[in-house]
Amino acid sequence: MRRCKIVGTGMYVPERVVTNADLMTMMDTSDEWIRQRSGIRERRFAAETETPADMARVACERALLDAGLEIRDIDCILLATLSPQHEFPGTSFFVHEMLGAPEIPCMDLRAQCSGFLFALGAANSFVRAGQFERVLVVGVEIHSMGIELATRGRDVAVLFGDGAGAVIVEATRAEDPAGILEIRMHSEGAHAKRLWIEAPGCALRPYRITHEMIDEGRIYPKMDGKFVFKHAVTRMPEVLHEALSAASVKLADVDLFLFHQANLRINEYVAGQLGIPPEKCPSNIERYGNCSAASIPMLLAEARANGVAKPGHLVAMTGFGSGFTWGCALARL
Ligand code: ACO
Repeated sequence: MRRCKIVGTGMYVPERVVTNADLMTMMDTSDEWIRQRSGIRERRFAAETETPADMARVACERALLDAGLEIRDIDCILLATLSPQHEFPGTSFFVHEMLGAPEIPCMDLRAQCSGFLFALGAANSFVRAGQFERVLVVGVEIHSMGIELATRGRDVAVLFGDGAGAVIVEATRAEDPAGILEIRMHSEGAHAKRLWIEAPGCALRPYRITHEMIDEGRIYPKMDGKFVFKHAVTRMPEVLHEALSAASVKLADVDLFLFHQANLRINEYVAGQLGIPPEKCPSNIERYGNCSAASIPMLLAEARANGVAKPGHLVAMTGFGSGFTWGCALARL
């Protein structure tokens, strides 16, 4: 059976830095509250003219450059997001056009903060099955357009930022030491409404969107923060252990743990429970906030670019998000 390995990574964040002090001019919050509970100091917000596809395009072009490839070398584009360019057809088709891709398939995949891991899982299966040689997997979010930047929405609004991260995977021989060892994915739909945006939606009759829904703030994300926290700190260690055991790898053999950057406290708690030393857990949430589907590929791209992640390293990418969804990908770089 052939394997699938990561051959290029790239990331992009918008230029505009929004600090916690900046948020204090928009809502009743404080730098101390945000830092204490999430570790976030600042995040990036897209420029007025910037679209998700613009951002994804840059991350993809950087990943292609990093891999020494051109878009014509790619056989499929998988794009993970919860903040699409348009409700349909989503975002990937606009990226496809911007990249000048030939008539290869592309699609949007929706699994929120686990979206990148789920898309990587799909790419891994496509490549191993021999359907594609190379797949471009990209996560992108413009959260700044979807959160309520006012006191009513502050519990969620302070946590999120905008960004894009891309990874290229390619087929390799089974004997290649580099490659994806395991990807494990799970969902628990019973908790879908614990972290969600209700409207617009086709479940809402007779209209998917009304003025009242807008006035009532039902177009903004709602989160049961404590409930999400509890599940994240349970599910992430669980799925990490599951992936390690499936790959017959010990926790101590992992060189880097790339956790979804939802909340520094969640990741510190998980690392503490598992006895993982902090130096094995790079983070960038302090600078970018929670970029959902973009967060893990951004962290991987940054770690490779600054030499923290090196060829030969075994990385464990673990995330949890709305759905609920959670997953873990183990890959040797
Ligand atoms: N600034 C100041 N005060 C705030 C803010 C804010 N931004 N937001 C809420 N508050 C207030 C509330 O009104 C409440 O006030 P009250 O006690 O007077 O009613 C109080 O702060 C709540 O404080 P805590 O109970 O201490 O909040 P908690 O410890 O639960 O922390 C947090 C909230 C940070 C959201 C936490 O629950 C958490 O991290 N949850 C997980 C969130 C997460 O990771 N989500 C994303 C993962 S999945 C994905 O990425 C899609």
